Amino acid sequence: MPDLPSSHILFGGDYNPEQWPETVWKEDMLLMREAGVNLVSIGIFSWAKLQSAPGVFHFEWMDRLMDLLAENGIWADLATATASPPAWLTCRHPEMLPTLQNGTRLSIGSRQHYNPSSRAYREACAELVRALALRYKDHPALAMWHINNEYACHVPADYGDETAAAFREWLRDRHGSLEKLNESWGTAFWSQHYHEWEEVLPPRATPTFANPGQCLDFQRFCSDALLECCLIEARILREITPSKPITTNFMEWFKPLDYRKWAQCLDFTCLDIYPQPTGPVQTPVKSFDMTRSWSDGKPWVIMEQVTTHVNWRQRNPTKPPGLMRLWSYQAIAHGADGICYFQWRQARAGAEKFHGSMVGHGEPSSQRCYQETKALGNELKGLGRIAGTTFHAEAAIFFDQENWWALEQGSKPNNDLTYVRGVENFHNALHALSIGTDFVFEDSDLSKYKLLFVPCLYMAKPGVAEKIGAFVEAGGTAVITYFSGIVDGNDHIHLGGYPAPFRSLLGLSVEEWAVPQDDLPFKVSVTRQPGLAASYNASFWAEVIRSEGAETMATFSEGYYAGLPAVTRHAFGKGCAWYLGTEFEQAFYDDLLKVLARDTGLTPPLAVPAGVEVTRRTGAGKEFLFLLNQRNEAQSIDLNGLSGTEILTGRQIACSLELAPWGVAIIETAVGSESIE
Ligand code: GLA
Repeated sequence: MPDLPSSHILFGGDYNPEQWPETVWKEDMLLMREAGVNLVSIGIFSWAKLQSAPGVFHFEWMDRLMDLLAENGIWADLATATASPPAWLTCRHPEMLPTLQNGTRLSIGSRQHYNPSSRAYREACAELVRALALRYKDHPALAMWHINNEYACHVPADYGDETAAAFREWLRDRHGSLEKLNESWGTAFWSQHYHEWEEVLPPRATPTFANPGQCLDFQRFCSDALLECCLIEARILREITPSKPITTNFMEWFKPLDYRKWAQCLDFTCLDIYPQPTGPVQTPVKSFDMTRSWSDGKPWVIMEQVTTHVNWRQRNPTKPPGLMRLWSYQAIAHGADGICYFQWRQARAGAEKFHGSMVGHGEPSSQRCYQETKALGNELKGLGRIAGTTFHAEAAIFFDQENWWALEQGSKPNNDLTYVRGVENFHNALHALSIGTDFVFEDSDLSKYKLLFVPCLYMAKPGVAEKIGAFVEAGGTAVITYFSGIVDGNDHIHLGGYPAPFRSLLGLSVEEWAVPQDDLPFKVSVTRQPGLAASYNASFWAEVIRSEGAETMATFSEGYYAGLPAVTRHAFGKGCAWYLGTEFEQAFYDDLLKVLARDTGLTPPLAVPAGVEVTRRTGAGKEFLFLLNQRNEAQSIDLNGLSGTEILTGRQIACSLELAPWGVAIIETAVGSESIE
């Protein structure tokens, strides 16, 4: 697989020069060079400008743009331009417009107005992509391909007739026969049996709960249908430019697409990320860890973030000075090799003219956005040797996109249950302690981890419980939480007592669930475990748990199940498996992690004060220790004997280091430096 350009941290953004006279392009080049920009994503929304009818292309402006980029030493992340079909195409093929669940057909006039299963759309994309690839295959500016844009961000599913036919084909492939489909969807329920394939439809608007198997398969199909669109383009690009890396921009915690599966089809992963910048400052690190993990730790790129503010929330507060820099370094500290933005020059027309950018509407020399961009871009120029190094992680959180779909489908004991909350409980605790964390999936190698967290794994597909069991048996510590191991991959109950696939690993069974009507906290008392408090608040969920060999670590203090286990631990092989039968306040996860980190010998790369994060990237005989002050106040770090070069300032450091508010330091040492361990 082709890799990213090495020896550089990529820096740049979406560039839409077709919205500007060409005299502005010249100024753009000067400003880009001044700001250290080395990569721009071009052509993302240019289809209408590149093609005016079948076979009629207008590449001259793109030729001039590509030449200008090459002359200025700026790489092109050339988009395939298929994200917003032109009006001439949809007028010729109105059937390619998307149909909503209630039958409404969407219109032209914004973007992403296509049905992924539309033959006309797919054929038109293929024609355009082939023409683009042939035109620019040897152009010196071409560095990589950016397929489409944020697939599914506005239209995650289509429910029309062309989709119904494609869904049936997909189901034939998956199930083989109608008989098997009926079995998998449990159609004996509510008289849903299908006698002919033509009767099978997408889950359109229904009087009450649609069939869960049908809904789940439709989510799988929708992700696959868009992936097929992406692959139609990727195959053409790989045929014509086999040495150019291919990507498409992913979004954070985006439910419709199974990005783990998608990432296997791309050369590198990239992320568009827009956290709310005010209030309790959200940290984007969970998304950074996920993006890196989709491609098993390979370097990745922030393809879009914003310098200041977006325009698509009800209110759009701006990032205060320094926060964009901190988050950019935090991405690099978590394995990113590129920092890009939406967008280079702020639009003067259209729906995004109030969206922040690298260059604003006024005079660049007096714009905070441009000055912060320029400062960061010039700093990153000196950090090329970090590119290609690997983030260090010894803990992992198990994640399964299909579990996310199945868990939140409705008709559950507690329908406020969200998968991401379960993930956050553990990720917050791990991040607070600076314990490097990967996300792992059903096909990941678990052998390098000491600790594995498994939140709400409602759907345990074949082999998954065995995989987690093998991890524990070999000496790992796993923490599994409530409502796990309940159904198989078809969303059918695992019979044999909850949580059937995990019972022997956990040494317990769950007799029933006791879901509270409200969100009032209830107490859980810790019965044994130095390092934990005497009691914690819990809420949201409770279970009636019977030990079958597990030690009880904490019990419910209230309800008819008072005195029964709420937290258990069970020795299994050389390791042990914990079970949490309720949803705790964050303090419990923080304290439990301290206990587990001590027991498993997991330590952060350096002891740091609260609010400072420390991460490590290694490779090619070098170690880079990132220190990130997540507070808007200065912090002092005791380096505990560590010495090396702080590469942002070039200073030799020893003993201690001052981090400015939201400040960053990167210490380079030789691999194996004792003080880093
Ligand atoms: C997304 C899109 C961009 C732009 C930004 C605005 O990330 O990919 O084209 O619309 O949102 O935040």
